[in-house]
Amino acid sequence: MGDRLDTGRARHVAIIMDGNGRWAKKRALPRAIGHQRGVEAVRRLVRALEPMELECLTLYAFSSENWKRSEDEVDDLMNLMRKFIKSDLPEFIANDVKLKIIGDWQSLAPDIVAMLEDALAQTAKGKQTLAVALNYGGQHEIARAAAKAAAKGEVSVESIAAHLDTADLPPLDLLIRTSGEIRLSNFLLWQSAYAEMLFVDTLWPDFEPAHLKQALDDFARRERRYGGR
Ligand code: IPE
Ligand code: IPE
Ligand code: MG
Repeated sequence: MGDRLDTGRARHVAIIMDGNGRWAKKRALPRAIGHQRGVEAVRRLVRALEPMELECLTLYAFSSENWKRSEDEVDDLMNLMRKFIKSDLPEFIANDVKLKIIGDWQSLAPDIVAMLEDALAQTAKGKQTLAVALNYGGQHEIARAAAKAAAKGEVSVESIAAHLDTADLPPLDLLIRTSGEIRLSNFLLWQSAYAEMLFVDTLWPDFEPAHLKQALDDFARRERRYGGR
């Protein structure tokens, strides 16, 4: 998990982007439109990332449990993913954003896997990391990491941490969830051990870069203790 130096400034923020469906429902629109507007919120945020000086922003885009949704909704989400990578990859490259994917993304549709591999290669030199959680479940991530650690003959906190999908990222400082739900829904369970949490009522499509700036300011005023005094 790296060092735990409190500088007041967050290095790594993660967001559970929730509430697309409710945003659409409030407007009597199809859920797919809510997801589209959710992608636009992601785009706004990524465009505003540079001056925030974050090293990493991790976004929960599709959970390993989201396969339970209707086939139509899953298709809509996968198609949005395809469109988003195609349309926004040039911007990532231009803005020095390094894409990273966490979760079991290799088992997504082969064309998506190929697009992601290409995007990873093309953004490898970027400065700020945008980590996207796709087909991600925290319990499964821990189980996979523990199995790898065991195969190497040592199961410890350090060896498991070293095999998590996030092993190369800074420690998680702040976890935000939108839409008013107060639960983790299997996101970054291990990494949240000492993360600060922020639950906001804003529905994801309404989330603006100003909300993240506000969250970072709030974070800077929190006192983190890690069990000490
Ligand atoms: C989050 O919005 C997007 C994904 C989980 C992919 P939801 O689709 O969960 O929206 P609500 O929770 O139904 O409002
Ligand atoms: C969590 O939201 C997953 C993502 C935001 C991708 P869900 O909407 O799937 O979570 P639950 O079902 O309300 O716990
Ligand atoms: Mg939801």
